[in-house]
Amino acid sequence: MNEKQLKHLLSEMSLREKIGQMIQLTGVYFDEQAVLTGAVGEDLPPEWIIKYAGSVLGMIGADKIYEVQKKYVEEHPHHIPLLFMADIIHGCRTIFPIPLGQACSFHPELVRKAAMSAASEASSQGIKATFSPMIDVSRDPRWGRIMESFGEDPYLNGVMGRAMLEGYQKSEISKDGYEEKHFSREISDDGMAGCLKHFAGYGAVNAGREYNDVEISQRTFTEQYLKPFRMALKARPAMVMSAFNAIDRKPVSGNKELLKHVLREQEGFEGVIISDWGSIGQLEEQRVVSGQKEAAYAAAEAGVDIDMMSPAYMFWLEELVKNGDLPEALIDECVWRILEMKNRLGLFENPFSGIKQNIVISPDVKSTAFQLACESCVLLKNENILPLKHKEKVFWVGPYVKSQELLSRWAIFGKHSDVDTIQEALNKKEIQAECIQGCSILSDEECKIWQAKAPYVTEKDYNTENLSLDRIGADDTVVMVLGEHEAQSGEAASRAFLSLPKEQMELFERITERTSRIITVILTGRPLDLRRISEKSRAVLIVWRPGTLGAEAIVSLIYGMESPSGKLSVSIPWCVGQVPISYWDMTTGHLFSKSNPDDRFVSRYMDIPNTPLYPFGYGLTYTSFEISDFHVYAAENENVCVSCKVENTGAVPGAEVIQCYAETICAPVVRPAKELIRFKKVFLKPGEKIGVNFTVGCEKFSFYGKNMERINRGFQVRIIIGNSSSNEADSCVIQL
Ligand code: GLC
Repeated sequence: MNEKQLKHLLSEMSLREKIGQMIQLTGVYFDEQAVLTGAVGEDLPPEWIIKYAGSVLGMIGADKIYEVQKKYVEEHPHHIPLLFMADIIHGCRTIFPIPLGQACSFHPELVRKAAMSAASEASSQGIKATFSPMIDVSRDPRWGRIMESFGEDPYLNGVMGRAMLEGYQKSEISKDGYEEKHFSREISDDGMAGCLKHFAGYGAVNAGREYNDVEISQRTFTEQYLKPFRMALKARPAMVMSAFNAIDRKPVSGNKELLKHVLREQEGFEGVIISDWGSIGQLEEQRVVSGQKEAAYAAAEAGVDIDMMSPAYMFWLEELVKNGDLPEALIDECVWRILEMKNRLGLFENPFSGIKQNIVISPDVKSTAFQLACESCVLLKNENILPLKHKEKVFWVGPYVKSQELLSRWAIFGKHSDVDTIQEALNKKEIQAECIQGCSILSDEECKIWQAKAPYVTEKDYNTENLSLDRIGADDTVVMVLGEHEAQSGEAASRAFLSLPKEQMELFERITERTSRIITVILTGRPLDLRRISEKSRAVLIVWRPGTLGAEAIVSLIYGMESPSGKLSVSIPWCVGQVPISYWDMTTGHLFSKSNPDDRFVSRYMDIPNTPLYPFGYGLTYTSFEISDFHVYAAENENVCVSCKVENTGAVPGAEVIQCYAETICAPVVRPAKELIRFKKVFLKPGEKIGVNFTVGCEKFSFYGKNMERINRGFQVRIIIGNSSSNEADSCVIQL
């Protein structure tokens, strides 16, 4: 439709039709098999709401959606199509690594390609909008949703979030990379609307406790937590989701200053603001309104266009408009944005846009999933034991060796039956290995805590396996595959400890008594306390939740068919007592100095180091690289130009991530210790040497002064080049 036709449609709609567009219902009202990702209240929606609802979440299936849409469009007075939305977080049927792992690839083009595949699969099954990418800066591994984020760095969240969004919406990508982007107004038939979430600050919940309050300064919020949104908004997301939390004690879903003034007026967002599940209704629980009617008023006033599954809009919006408390013009503004989004998706011309028959996981998509799984894994330690040789007889031990549970709780449409086990992957590659499960992923007691089902293992299985374990000798090599259960990360999965499951640690200790030739593979949705694992393993590979092709990726990396290239998107803390922790923590007084480690009156813990076990940006490969010829100069056109050379000085091909950080030397306010400002992943053959160049606009170094005024001149920055946040190859100071 063109703008004139759309305006005419809006003018013809009744108030109830308009309010209907502002309501999103769970798919269970249309299909009992729909996936529930939130609590459904006891009050059923009024009949007219189901008749006029604008969108549905959690439903999938070409035939089902075709049938519901066909009936709905025929019966709707103006034949406005439903928009089917769902949480396609890291893949639809083909599951890619969790976003925390994808970020470790430092390969935005690959992340974008994976998102394009996810959009094609989802779109073929009738889903035309996803609640992704999640770009909440996350530096507290106690919070289970760290797995959905791109980690602790604002810039990395921004780059990856934008890449994923462009993949979903199939926006045109300009040739000049990820800086300035042209974008298409239309979202193609096999694309889907993206949604930046959760706006904003949810990743900073106090004590890592889910749905807790957030207490951060306006400066930290604006500079660190809003940064990924500012970056990804440039790719014109169809939606932004308002978060559950409050900022400065004002809950986001009723926060006009944040949604209208900051998001819309200051950052120029023109799309749809959708609430989180029930977050409008929860304004009452947060005691900033006295009931659902007031909640509806506050959210509508703040500019929340769609109410996801709370009673507020569906029961109160009509009365608020009829009583004159809310102008109908405000409803028209919200409905206009919703109609525009449906129009961008081409739904008026074709309400069944993109729908095809069953999903077939194509070879191309599988190869993308395999590559991204490989590039998401991070080699944390390797004392000359990896890669293993094919012929070497190896024991593979642990509950994940025969498990298909390599996905996550946000892989809501993925299928474990699509996943090869590690044992199957070893057999397919005809690798000599003896596979012993050794224990369950969780003990019975832990299953109760995590409301999870452990796979049933008979006593006989265990006895047989115990006999096999006893056959492991001091010269044998053992690959242990351990990790969290899928249920232990994602939404509503905060943990007070970062330990591996009890029985798995007992199994690990048993193996350490038999051999020192241990390689440990860790599956997890968050950083864990890996001190003991690191101490007793010759090599450690963290693979996050690697997705459908995870087993093939793990085996290929362990035997050197693929070379590890991942770099940590999040610090691995020394222990839970250290969190929240990030490489960009603010500078302090009482500076700790390595040259005086016993100095007591400095900023330190007395019982553990200040530094994490493994830092942001760190990761080993099977080769070695050298960074040289570092130069920095400030060009007249206000850009800072950085260049260096990188050479593969090892014997096998590999990839290195060149990272460029900036450290403010002195400023009127305390600044982060350093900030990632650019990165580039380069793939090099042995002996190959290439140049890497970064151009950084001066405004990228700016910050907020004492009165929150922007400062981008009159200070010095140290530009750092290296291959992790803690390994500097070179640096130099420039004046801005
Ligand atoms: C959940 C999550 C949000 C998700 C939405 C729909 O509560 O907070 O990230 O997209 O509801 O499932």
